[in-house]
Amino acid sequence: MSNEYFACRITGFGTHVPERVLTNADFEKMLDTSDEWIVSRTGIRKRHVSDERVTTSDLAAEAARYALNDAGVTAEDITHILFGTCTPDALCPISACGLAYKLGLKGVAALDFNVGCSGFVYGLSLTRGVLCAEPNAKVLLVAAERLTSRANMQDRSTAVLFGDGAGVFVVTAGMERPEAPKPGLRIVDVILKSDGSLGDLLTIHGGGSIHPYHLGDVVGEEYYLHMNGREVFKYAVRYMAQISLELLARNNLTIADIDLVIPHQANQRIIEAVGNRLALPEEKVFSVVAEYGNTSAASIPLALGDARRLGRIRPGTRMLLPVFGGGFTWGAAILQVD
Ligand code: ACO
Repeated sequence: MSNEYFACRITGFGTHVPERVLTNADFEKMLDTSDEWIVSRTGIRKRHVSDERVTTSDLAAEAARYALNDAGVTAEDITHILFGTCTPDALCPISACGLAYKLGLKGVAALDFNVGCSGFVYGLSLTRGVLCAEPNAKVLLVAAERLTSRANMQDRSTAVLFGDGAGVFVVTAGMERPEAPKPGLRIVDVILKSDGSLGDLLTIHGGGSIHPYHLGDVVGEEYYLHMNGREVFKYAVRYMAQISLELLARNNLTIADIDLVIPHQANQRIIEAVGNRLALPEEKVFSVVAEYGNTSAASIPLALGDARRLGRIRPGTRMLLPVFGGGFTWGAAILQVD
């Protein structure tokens, strides 16, 4: 009897951040804040910020070129683009179409989805769905944000938190045998949740049907991201820890079976609190929030890029990726290098 199994694998990925950097010292000149406050409350030291004319799909196009090269495929091999972002180029046309155009592609299936910071992990699940239905597909999974386009630079309680960036992943599927696993990161399992009753704790209302603009309206604070930081903090810690344990249990794993945990990179205190709830040794929890700030959907992808560069993703590495974002949405994924 054959013991073949169906596996979805990330066969290549790439990341990109804009060159321009805003340090905490830069914010000290713009706002009533201090490096000491920002570092002690968030762990953030700097963030990469796009120029005004750069779009979210521009950032994704840069990352996509690395991803395609890493996977050893060309753009023409791609059949689907799934684009997770809460800061799209526009409501219409969607960013996935913008990216396809920039990569010279016509005829690919293209989809934007918005689950806030949970975009990458939700995207892994969507990608698995596409590959189950169409096993020969080659999916470009994108998680990209120009979050600074929706950060109110006059509001010290949010301006200092966010940065821009993109991660792009080539994902394919096929039948495999345990003794001959294919190269790449296998998507072992993904779990997703949401609770709309908590939606008002983190909003960007302006321009949507909740707050439509009319000709001649002056854009106000509603255009920008609003957040009840303390409440978001509390739920983020609780739900990322809970869902991690739920996902481990349904895979007959314990936290000891995990080599590296890369949680959503929103705030160092949240990352540490999740690590503590899971009783994780410090060295197993990976954080790049000091370097990039909170880049929403792109945050785990950017961390994965740095983890690979630092040699933290090796043969045998099993990773747990818990995520949390506006909506509220949350989830977790397990990835494994066989
Ligand atoms: N510099 C100096 N003081 C500040 C700043 C700043 N940048 N921002 C706020 N303060 C002040 C406030 O005005 C307040 O002053 P007051 O006491 O005189 O009113 C004081 O600091 C305390 O403010 P809090 O908001 O209560 O500060 P807190 O310790 O909760 O830290 C923070 C705020 C960092 C936002 C924290 O709540 C947090 O990290 N929450 C989670 C946010 C998050 O991770 N969101 C992302 C998840 S979803 C997504 O990624 C989109």
